[in-house]
Amino acid sequence: MLEIRNLCGFYGNSAALRNVELSVGDGEFVAVLGRNGVGKTTLLRALFGLLDRTTGEIRLGGEDISGWPTHKRARAGIGYVPQGRGILPEFTVMENLRMGAFARTSDRGEEVESLVFDMFPMLSEFAGRAGGNLSGGQQQQLAIARALLTDPDIIVLDEPTEGIQPNVVELIEDVIVKLNRDHGITIVLVEQDIGFARKASSKFAIMEKGRIVASGAADELTDELVHRHMSV
Ligand SMILES: Nc1ncnc2c1ncn2[C@@H]1O[C@H](COP(=O)(O)OP(=O)(O)OP(=O)(O)O)[C@@H](O)[C@H]1O
Ligand SMILES: [Mg+2]
Repeated sequence: MLEIRNLCGFYGNSAALRNVELSVGDGEFVAVLGRNGVGKTTLLRALFGLLDRTTGEIRLGGEDISGWPTHKRARAGIGYVPQGRGILPEFTVMENLRMGAFARTSDRGEEVESLVFDMFPMLSEFAGRAGGNLSGGQQQQLAIARALLTDPDIIVLDEPTEGIQPNVVELIEDVIVKLNRDHGITIVLVEQDIGFARKASSKFAIMEKGRIVASGAADELTDELVHRHMSV
């Protein structure tokens, strides 16, 4: 479904991604792991054309999308939940959700809407409230809902439980697992919680200094690998 080949990415002249290779099959759940500052967010940004420059290939369903503008990638079936949520604080919950619905090209509007409002009851409750007045956990639910309304085949989430109160962490983790297992949505998740990554994912990739230094099936994510590449 998603094939990343020899991907290099740059901020100005400095290389932030080095020869990244990653393949994500239909229905898989890939956890992208690594210490702070190793390039996890940069990799996701590269998928959406948000870096100054990239080289290499990003194939989605066989087609190289690496030269496409960001909005066209969103319409091609990948949803993005950025680190720090990226909702529009001055706009209401409903207006934020409309941004997602606007990027949808499928005709499954009613289905995805009922899915999203079932998963996140707070959205109806706070529909008219400004995004910026929601709690961190509510903003994260809004960001995930907005991405889901594009009716994506694959959803890319960047540390969705970072800085969120524990009861909402559980809700968000359950939703991510459900999207994958019950709705067949392919997941790429940047995650700091190794326990959740092990439990939820089918594959892992560990980054260091802009490269993928270890990858494999989730049950191959040994304590030794975690210690070597992730302890601080
Ligand atoms: N806009 C930018 N301009 C220049 N360099 C940047 C920019 N954003 C990130 N970097 C650099 O690129 C490298 C990778 O950063 P990135 O944000 O991708 O790391 P990360 O793995 O997501 O870290 P974290 O776990 O803290 O979110 C870091 O050295 C960072 O300083
Ligand atoms: Mg990051």
